Amino acid sequence: MFSKLPRHIAFIMDGNGRWAQKRGLPRIYGHAKGVKTVENVINLSKEFGIPFITLYAFSTENWKRPKEEVEFLMELLREYLKSNLERFKRENIRLSFIGRRDRIPQETLRWMEKTEEETKYCSAIWVFVAVDYGGRDEIIRAINKLLKEGKKEIDETTFKNYLDFPPEVPEPDLLIRTAGERRISNFLLWHIAYTELYFTDTLWPDFGREDFVKALEDFSKRKRKFGGLDEEVDS
Ligand code: IPE
Ligand code: IPE
Ligand code: MG
Repeated sequence: MFSKLPRHIAFIMDGNGRWAQKRGLPRIYGHAKGVKTVENVINLSKEFGIPFITLYAFSTENWKRPKEEVEFLMELLREYLKSNLERFKRENIRLSFIGRRDRIPQETLRWMEKTEEETKYCSAIWVFVAVDYGGRDEIIRAINKLLKEGKKEIDETTFKNYLDFPPEVPEPDLLIRTAGERRISNFLLWHIAYTELYFTDTLWPDFGREDFVKALEDFSKRKRKFGGLDEEVDS
């Protein structure tokens, strides 16, 4: 159906608050509805044979939001993992997390670690969820690890191994941001050096099969050059 497909898609899931506000509902309703889109996007990615996806769920800056909203989001993640872990295993879906782990509420962290551990042999798709994640924070944490080890000089390949993704994960080929904003908001700064960017006005809770297919179609037409002159030939 497509001349080429991304191996790794990163999603900035934006617009939950606006979705709710448009309906006169509190913002948290938008987050709850957004979880359904997460489900749908995992299934679609699996169906299209995309082996890796990364979902931006909570940024290092999102702590600035009202305490009630932050608490709701952390509880939503915990409950989502709790009620879906068995299904992930059944459906062969692997989940891992990127981002800081030192500020996440204990019960949410416990479910994150349990999910990572119990899905680690699943192989149909590998889903990364970015929680308390910031691109700058990831880079600084990597540098601090290097300094602790007494490293004096490194190269790009070595540096990459200190970032949050396991080394076997390819860099995102496509980044999709919903809800009309055309910015990166501190997501995956290192990893998106040559990622194709796709922006849609659709709000995250409304993002469905049609939007997903449109993004894949758009991607299949992009000519990737990586600084050279010819299309790269790996996918
Ligand atoms: C994205 O939706 C979800 C998170 C950042 C957690 P928003 O909550 O940012 O929704 P808008 O941008 O206010 O509409
Ligand atoms: C980016 O969305 C973070 C997530 C989707 C988790 P934001 O809504 O927080 O980004 P800004 O504030 O519009 O840049
Ligand atoms: Mg937003």
